[in-house]
Amino acid sequence: MRWMWMVALITLMGCKSENKAPAAEGGAPAAPSAEKKLSVGFSQVGAESAWRTAETKSIRDEAEKRGVALKFADAQGKQAQQIQALTSFIAQKVDVIVLAPVVETGWEVVLRQAKEANIPVILVDRGIKVSDDSLYTTLIASDFVAEGRMAAEWLAKQTNGKANIYELQGSTGAAPAIDRKKGFEEGIQKFPEMKIVKSQSADFTRAKGKEVMEAFIKSDRDQIQAVYAHNDDMALGAIQALDEAGMKPGEGVTVISVDAVKGAFEAMVAGKLNATVECNPLMGPLVFDTINKIRAGEPVEKFIQSKDQLFEKTNAAQVIGSREY
Ligand code: AHR
Repeated sequence: MRWMWMVALITLMGCKSENKAPAAEGGAPAAPSAEKKLSVGFSQVGAESAWRTAETKSIRDEAEKRGVALKFADAQGKQAQQIQALTSFIAQKVDVIVLAPVVETGWEVVLRQAKEANIPVILVDRGIKVSDDSLYTTLIASDFVAEGRMAAEWLAKQTNGKANIYELQGSTGAAPAIDRKKGFEEGIQKFPEMKIVKSQSADFTRAKGKEVMEAFIKSDRDQIQAVYAHNDDMALGAIQALDEAGMKPGEGVTVISVDAVKGAFEAMVAGKLNATVECNPLMGPLVFDTINKIRAGEPVEKFIQSKDQLFEKTNAAQVIGSREY
């Protein structure tokens, strides 16, 4: 009887060994699988602008360079799709979540689920409003209020504190739209002859920027002295509309925007865009350095601010060759 147990035991061990990884060359057992790759779930707003595309590329390229298993989800601008992506990342037990939140509110439930699953959340590019800021580890972004203020101060100097301004706002509810508007209004407050005559969302896209500017031209052509766009893509659309109406953007109408993408530099060199405030999208290296710090248990600032600067058409030609996005 005992011998039967021995046979069974040897047979079982023989089976298990067959289940092992196939022997490497030369018969030696294959090395144990490589150390588990860091897995990161990245929920991106969409691809509404050249800036957004540059941000996505920076994060994806850096993940590849560092051998990170990146799960990428493009939400086509819809918060519901971002929440769905985060829910899926949590179910897949990713190590870290990176979120570029399309709007400021509506994140409490899904971020609480991430916290309960012990998955740190890093916000990139845009902030959120939550009752408990422990629901995210850090925000890596520009200061959008400061960008709006910088644009206003430049325009006040450029127009000697007197302009009828037409504003193209970013996506409704998005932090950059809310804060760039806030900062710009603060910046023109001390100039009573600088007035925002009309202000409308063009959703951060070139097409909508052209459409909204065409409507402004139709109703207010002779009043338009300056355009403030919350991003370059909308400004480039507005420039197209102004050009088609023979209104000489960059000369007859002063145009200022935010982002400092390549297209904006090309428009400044052509004399059609007067200035743009940089909002740096190349966050990839900083995102993964921050993830490493978090995983090493090192302290991380709640807000890691990207530094921005303003570029004008007067210096665009010398700078355009060195631009990375
Ligand atoms: O959140 C940053 C903004 O989002 C950029 O200024 C704009 O181009 C993008 O759509």
